[in-house]
This record gives sequence, structure tokens and C-alpha cells, in this order.
Amino acid sequence: MTDWTTNDIPDQSRRLAVVTGATGGLGLETALVLAGKGAEVVLAARNLDKGAEAERLIRERHPSAEVRFEMLNLADLGSVAAFADRQLASGRPIDLLINNAGVMALPRRQTTADGFEMQFGVNYLSHFALTGRLLPLLEAANARVVQLSSVAHRGGAIRLDDLNYQTGYRPWPVYQQSKLAMLMFAIELQRRSDAHGWGLTSVAAHPGFARTDLIANGPASPGGALFGWAVGLLEKVMSHSAADGALPILLAATSPTVTPAGYYGPQGFQEMKGPPGVAEIKPQAQDVAVAGALWTASERLTGVRFG
Ligand SMILES: NC(=O)c1ccc[n+]([C@@H]2O[C@H](COP(=O)([O-])OP(=O)(O)OC[C@H]3O[C@@H](n4cnc5c(N)ncnc54)[C@H](OP(=O)(O)O)[C@@H]3O)[C@@H](O)[C@H]2O)c1
Repeated sequence: MTDWTTNDIPDQSRRLAVVTGATGGLGLETALVLAGKGAEVVLAARNLDKGAEAERLIRERHPSAEVRFEMLNLADLGSVAAFADRQLASGRPIDLLINNAGVMALPRRQTTADGFEMQFGVNYLSHFALTGRLLPLLEAANARVVQLSSVAHRGGAIRLDDLNYQTGYRPWPVYQQSKLAMLMFAIELQRRSDAHGWGLTSVAAHPGFARTDLIANGPASPGGALFGWAVGLLEKVMSHSAADGALPILLAATSPTVTPAGYYGPQGFQEMKGPPGVAEIKPQAQDVAVAGALWTASERLTGVRFG
């Protein structure tokens, strides 16, 4: 699959795609391409001004694009419920859900409106709740669901006795847990879809190391462990553009040949950059018992049950 490009994306006309965090970085690049291929795209994010700018940018590139911003704050389960209720009220089946929004390695522990640790809450728990609430619309379209993971999942562990890091907060392990949780969610969702006949294709993707606002808003923000010069150096050596980072997401979202529960990322050294293809899943992401326990805990924490 290493010669895959956006030219390989089939026509997306009459398909509805919801992309979270589509007002910047990888989400915006993903939305841009999908809109260019004819999909109707909902840019689901939390900043109205950035939403208007993202809409403008996409229409500038693709004048006939069907694109609209919709408010979704993943740091608030009430906002997730309100967003899902609006979609359910419209009754329009969703063909493609890309759970992309995220924050990384926040220097100090922060919490969501519901009291969850911010990285776990925004990156994973709210996407779990969103997917569960949208399930009737996803089932109706035999949808493709894509979860954003990361090479960071490799060193991650699921802390079942303290998922929200009430004690011992450290920015990176918490991020790693959230990205491992997303990969496990993708695999477990496929398992459950198959068992219950939901008809979904559930996959995960990661962009390698792509130049976006993720570092500036996280580890390089005030109090963080990374300084601007270090980021510049790292980016120069190891990164690729946001547009290139979006390719594995787009492949996972649109290729007719993806493997259910598959994982896609760049094919270069350490999967940091390069053309998109199959990515490596570490064994802890395939632990069925932990995935089941995480699912149960996620239902309890969010109050959302699937099916
Ligand atoms: N860049 C990389 O190298 C890399 C590597 C591995 C994985 N990833 C993953 O890729 C995904 C996208 O990251 P990115 O690199 O594109 O970062 P980014 O440029 O910072 O974009 C993140 C997007 O998520 C949105 N977002 C953040 N918090 C939100 C919230 N509470 N509610 C709704 N939307 C929210 C942001 O909106 P605002 O602008 O309003 O904050 C923005 O649209 C993340 O899941 C990240 O973990 C990225």
C-alpha cells in the first residue's frame, strides 16, 4: 500500500463525514481532502472562529464543497450529547466518523467539565461517548469509524485502577494511555460490531510525526518539558507536513481494502513519516481482557451504552 495517494480515494459524493477537531492540523487536512472528493463534511470542534475560517479555507480550495462547522466540545459530555442529539434529530445516516481531536502531554493535570483528566477525557472518553450516541446513524450507513492513535501507544498502559490519573499525574504516560485506549477502542468496536451485527468497519490510524499545533498547545506550552528550539530540531529531522500526516487517516477512512480492526500509519523509519500503509500494533493493544474492562469502565464513566 506504500504507493497510495489521495488519487486512490473513491468518489465520496452523497456520503456524510463527521471529523472531530477539524478546525486545524490533521483534522482540517482530512476534511479538505474529503470535501474535495465530494463528501458532505461536518467540522466538529469547539472554536467558532476557527470553524468559520476552516469552512472558508475549504470553500476557497473547493468552491462547491458541502461543509459546515458544528459545535462539539469534547471536554464536556453535555456538549457531546447535544451534538449527537442534533445529528439524531436530523436522521441523516453518517457514513464516516473520524475521531481525530486531541490534546497532548499537557504540562499540568487539567480536568474536563465532568471531572475527567483532560487528555483521557478529550482524546478517548468523549470519542467513546460520541460513537455510542451516534451508533444508530452509523449502523444505518454501515459506517467506517476511524480512531486516531499514535506511536505513543507503544509505551502506553491502561491504568484500570486510576484511569483519570487522580494520583501521580505525568504528561506523557497519560497521553500514551489515551492513545493506547483509542487503538484498543478501534479493535474492540470491530469485535462488538461483528458480535452484534452493527455493520461497522472500525479502524485506527496515526500520522507519525506531523507538523501541527499539537506540540505548541501541549509539551511546548508554558511549564512544558519541550522548548521551541528543541521542537524545531525534532521537526526538521523527523517530521512531515500535516497534509502528509493526514494520508494514513484518509487511507483508513476511504480505502475499500482496509482490514477491519486494522491500523494504518506512515511507512518510514519508526513510522514517523513516509507514505501510508499498515502500522504496527503493540501486544498490549490486543489484550482482549483489558479492552473489555476499559469498555465497561468507559460505559460507567460516560453513562453511554452501545446498542
Ligand atoms: N501531530 C502529530 O504528530 C500527531 C502524532 C500522533 C497522533 N496525533 C493525533 O492526531 C490528532 C490531531 O492532532 P493534530 O496534530 O492535528 O493537533 P492540532 O493541530 O492541535 O489539532 C487538534 C484539533 O483538536 C481540537 N480540539 C482540541 N481539544 C478539543 C476539544 N476539547 N473539543 C473539540 N475539539 C478539540 C482542536 O481545536 P482547537 O484549535 O479549538 O484547540 C484542533 O481542531 C490528535 O488526536 C493527536 O493525538 C498527532
